[in-house]
Amino acid sequence: MKPAVSEWNPSSWRERTALQQPAWPDATELANAEAALVAQPPLVFAGEARRLTSQLGKVANGQAFLLQAGDCAESFHVAGADAIRDKLKVILQMAVALTYASGVPVVKVGRIAGQFAKPRSKEVETRGELSLEAFRGHIINDEPFTAEARRPDAARMVQAYHQSATTLNLLRAFTKGGFADLTRVHAWNQEFVLDSAMGQRYAGVADDIERAMRFMAACGIDLGRESHLHEVDFYVSHEALILPYEQALTRQDSLTGDWFDCSAHMLWIGNRTRQLDGAHVEFLRGVGNPLGMKVGTDLSPAETVELVERLNPENVAGRITLISRMGRDVIEDKLPGHIEALRQAGQNVVWTCDPMHGNTFTTDGDIKTRRFDDILAEVRSFFNIHQSLGTWAGGLHIELTGDDVTECLGGGIAISEKDLEMNYTSMCDPRLNASQSLDLAFHVAEYLSHR
Ligand code: PEP
Ligand code: CO
Repeated sequence: MKPAVSEWNPSSWRERTALQQPAWPDATELANAEAALVAQPPLVFAGEARRLTSQLGKVANGQAFLLQAGDCAESFHVAGADAIRDKLKVILQMAVALTYASGVPVVKVGRIAGQFAKPRSKEVETRGELSLEAFRGHIINDEPFTAEARRPDAARMVQAYHQSATTLNLLRAFTKGGFADLTRVHAWNQEFVLDSAMGQRYAGVADDIERAMRFMAACGIDLGRESHLHEVDFYVSHEALILPYEQALTRQDSLTGDWFDCSAHMLWIGNRTRQLDGAHVEFLRGVGNPLGMKVGTDLSPAETVELVERLNPENVAGRITLISRMGRDVIEDKLPGHIEALRQAGQNVVWTCDPMHGNTFTTDGDIKTRRFDDILAEVRSFFNIHQSLGTWAGGLHIELTGDDVTECLGGGIAISEKDLEMNYTSMCDPRLNASQSLDLAFHVAEYLSHR
């Protein structure tokens, strides 16, 4: 037995070092925002989080696949229904491509309805003579390089809560109210994707699905009664970075007495805040939600095991999703050691691949981008590694948008460096557009169907 860590409560993280927090300029503002959040209803329920854990348990046991996808950072300025609907469309399309090819259920989790905070490599940004707080995402401050915009404003946490609530409300309506009905499988193909090779390939799958449903109906199966055909379980997640926000939305489940962070179904710990004795690990170990943790190249297998044991002492399947984000050239060298170490420790985890964050670079024209081929290469290695170790490559963690953006290079419609500036709208990292996302899904579907 490991020595017991001290007792947990929703504020026990405050005795630890919390990295990546803004320098709040006004303690009263912060206290007011926290009080306002504490007074709000939860965004999700404990029962929903528990159900996600159980579905992720199936992924951990090799019976399902996790698709976690959405923006790098959501924006306060893009909150309309269309953007949310289009993001959902791409995720549903990817899930269809994956399920159809693999015959394996796909657990769908958005990086959405709360993904507002960004960890930064530099706390302060300097231009010329002027140094200001880095842009930390709309939950903290704003992008323009002025003292006013960059001042951390605690009231933004309350705004983030309200935008999360409206986004989640729309997602619930879309996924339970007819939009995600499998009879609408063609409608998720967007016009600008339709003409591309990927759009056509998707349309072919959609035709097959429609034919299969007509066949079942002709056989006398009452499709109207099959709720799985008409509704989708869609969960939301974000990086649990700004701890006063997470704490204020943490509530005790009246059924079990357990604590849940009711800001999202699933929370993950980023690559920069996963110190064993740090505040983020302390906070998250005590909430009942399923947790993700990024595994980058600077973590050793022994540290990964210690972290997983701290976060999941009961070894509950589905509680921990490890999100490997190593880079196409490093994954083969680094990932197997982590998988082996966890296996030896007897820890049951979900392994998923974030092929985005280890493959970012800046062009000569100073634009942050990623190559589709690098992303694909990392995913391919991820599958090969698991195949050779006899473990389950459990999922994909992607930054994408439903818009026709030009942020990543290559893919089905071959975006080149000179195209990047055409429609680059990400507030933070470059995302796959709808067609590149589908392209990736079809490749992954092939890997899935071969195992
Ligand atoms: C992210 O997922 O947007 C992110 C910042 O990732 P990481 O913590 O892996 O760098
Ligand atoms: Co990112």
